[in-house]
Amino acid sequence: MCGIVGYIGNQDVKETILSGLEKLEYRGYDSAGIAILNGNGINIYKDKGRIAHLRNVVDFGVKGTVGIGHTRWATHGKPNKVNSHPHQSSTKRFTLVHNGIIENEDALRLEYLKDTKFESDTDTEVVVQMIQKFVDEGQEVPLAIRYTLTLIEGSYALAILDQENPEVIYVAKNKSPLLIGKGEGFNMVGSDAMAMIHHTNQFYELHDKEFAVITKENITIYNLFGMTINRDYYIGELDATDIEKGTYPHYMLKEIDEQPFVLRRIIANYQNEMGQLSMDENILSAIRQSDRVYIVACGTSYHAGLVGKHLLEKVASKPTEIHVSSEFVYNTPLLSERPFFVFISQSGETADSRAVLVKVKEMGYPTLSITNVKGSTLYRETQYQLLLHAGPEIAVASTKAYTAQIAVLAILACKVAVTCDIDMLKELSIAANVMEALCDNKELYDQLARTYLATTRNCFYIGRHVDYYTCLEAALKLKEISYIQTEGFAAGELKHGTIALIEDNTPVIAIITQEGINLNTRSNIKEVKARGAAVITMSLKRLSSKTDQIIIGDVHEYLAPLVSVIPAQLLSYYAALHRDCDIDKPRNLAKSVTVE
Ligand code: M6R
Repeated sequence: MCGIVGYIGNQDVKETILSGLEKLEYRGYDSAGIAILNGNGINIYKDKGRIAHLRNVVDFGVKGTVGIGHTRWATHGKPNKVNSHPHQSSTKRFTLVHNGIIENEDALRLEYLKDTKFESDTDTEVVVQMIQKFVDEGQEVPLAIRYTLTLIEGSYALAILDQENPEVIYVAKNKSPLLIGKGEGFNMVGSDAMAMIHHTNQFYELHDKEFAVITKENITIYNLFGMTINRDYYIGELDATDIEKGTYPHYMLKEIDEQPFVLRRIIANYQNEMGQLSMDENILSAIRQSDRVYIVACGTSYHAGLVGKHLLEKVASKPTEIHVSSEFVYNTPLLSERPFFVFISQSGETADSRAVLVKVKEMGYPTLSITNVKGSTLYRETQYQLLLHAGPEIAVASTKAYTAQIAVLAILACKVAVTCDIDMLKELSIAANVMEALCDNKELYDQLARTYLATTRNCFYIGRHVDYYTCLEAALKLKEISYIQTEGFAAGELKHGTIALIEDNTPVIAIITQEGINLNTRSNIKEVKARGAAVITMSLKRLSSKTDQIIIGDVHEYLAPLVSVIPAQLLSYYAALHRDCDIDKPRNLAKSVTVE
């Protein structure tokens, strides 16, 4: 979702901010803008569209050593030039960029800004107008900002410029992510480390309801009462080369290809000196003491959670429930006596999941996050943490984080079990080899996507048991990047209604990885074929039949979801490619969904 970059130092800011915004493009956005502050005042350039377009709008002749930039994912008001950030107060003294949602904007307008003429339809403009109002009433700027923040309800990451003080960027945060980057003779601010990693690897976290004053030499963090907070910076582990595409045409393809390597890295990271799988004993004993695990997640992470539930119940005999975060928070189920909560999130920033976390922490229950981003909100705010070690995932469509989540959940299940019946280390290593073989066979998926998916209006994935979970993830992957209307379906459910949608040449992709359901799913394949469907079948080698188009190397049946998703990811990729879609940045979507 929205991204923020700011810089204050001795260099001209334009390129630093524009390239920082490009590093945040993966988050998803529909418009962008920058503000440059210099001795002559503020210069603002903004418009609907990509950063590449913004580069044409910016006047490169204008110089300045202080600036802020923004990518906007529209929530309040259409994506257009006027609603793009930065926004200014009526006098133009204050300029601000914002990520988040001001929930009480209507009440604030009524109470404080009755006479203010607004330029945009955004909630954001309320904030900058209120700062101006309180300054006009005689408050010092930092106090006016802090006072405004105490009146706001909702989420915000803010970067603010004051035309009358070009030596400072003010920043603040509540619920939405924001990091401060510490440099030599300059300082930066960004929605995440990727926007700053080419300039610094030293970062200060800003916590909720904190405010900071940043000059080129100093960073001072305050709470909203104006008390200084002492905090050490940390060294970011992100490698600048990890966020480049290299020779790949798209991040998604690069990230699909990285999966065998990520799986091996997970195995290495969760091993002790004796070469055995190992995990933090505190986490394992907390889960063992609980009477039920509740997994909470969204989207692809939810699908990984479905597999996680299966693993925890089968491998560790631990009763497990899985819930969609956005439902759980407002419709909380009856909980067991000793619940243990697991939050799965690639970004660690998903607002829906965080809302659940806040709620269950208030109830006093133990919480674990499984995330890819050390230091992210969920990572920081949960009691226990497990990392995915997948490296930055930049394509909006999640691929390597999904398989990493399943792998970490498999290790967790194995370690929670009193006795683990499978040699998880060996089986994961086999899965990594199978993944590699699948990734090496791209022509097949390219060809199948060209034949079956290049022009179709809709598509179905069908499967039973854990293959059904893979179908849900496969369908999400296909629809989000190729815009083909796709449903993931429990194969046995088709005949209860959905089979009515099967017409001549409707693509149906069947997944078979579990011995117990092989024949049942094959019966369902016959049913849809009889109604004209164009079927692609993928199966594990030991369950395959001569006519199956995609054969997946054999793996332990518990780990089949780790490998069966790879053909689906590649089919989605090539379908989107043949349909000329913007693969890494699909329309309307954001990588990091930081609003509820
Ligand atoms: O960062 P998270 O894992 O919490 O994100 C949750 C979903 O928004 C995410 O998995 C989304 O469904 C994927 N980008 C889809 O590929």
